[in-house]
Amino acid sequence: MDLRLPIETDRLELRRHEAGDREPFVALVTDPRFYEHLSVPERQRTPEGAAEVFELVLGSYDTDEPVWGLTLGDRETGAFVGTVALHPVPFGEALEIFYAVVPDRQGEGLAVEAVRALFEALPEYAFVARTPLTNDASKRVAAAAGMTDDGIERPLGGPERQRFVLPARR
Ligand SMILES: CC(C)(COP(=O)(O)OP(=O)(O)OC[C@H]1O[C@@H](n2cnc3c(N)ncnc32)[C@H](O)[C@@H]1OP(=O)(O)O)[C@@H](O)C(=O)NCCC(=O)NCCS
Repeated sequence: MDLRLPIETDRLELRRHEAGDREPFVALVTDPRFYEHLSVPERQRTPEGAAEVFELVLGSYDTDEPVWGLTLGDRETGAFVGTVALHPVPFGEALEIFYAVVPDRQGEGLAVEAVRALFEALPEYAFVARTPLTNDASKRVAAAAGMTDDGIERPLGGPERQRFVLPARR
């Protein structure tokens, strides 16, 4: 995947995580407001588990199998204001997208701005987002970023998800 970083938008830079992002990243993902609607493993809800995830991503960038977890940095201050992650969907050409914004900065349109920028940066990929049925903010982000509601997914043994899709743009 040819993802050139950083990606700049009006208010954000989408960039690799840096060491200074660890603390705000851990604070975000261990906040109950973050995982209340998500199926986050218990371990990842602890500061140790969240820091492990962060280190794993940081250590993967320059390998053959990078994990595309990125920081949303405030373009003015560089501060961590959220994160986006891309995961290849097995057996498909699509990328699954995940996004989160720190509670203090929610409701400013930052998630939509970040997701749109990723779609523009990767026009040859189809995207899918799977949001919990109760996660209205997440559904609104997917729709506002141009994705189409593809109905409810009922995986065997897993939680139901609202599925949003975007075909490749070229
Ligand atoms: C989902 C999340 C990233 C939204 O971030 P955000 O930057 O506040 O979103 P935006 O400001 O870009 O708002 C996008 C839309 O969601 C709506 N929205 C934001 N928060 C909302 C809420 N709590 N309830 C309902 N709608 C909400 C906005 O009104 C806007 O809708 P519109 O475009 O139709 O006007 C943020 O709530 C979050 O981090 N949640 C926890 C993690 C998570 O659930 N991630 C999704 C996993 S798939």
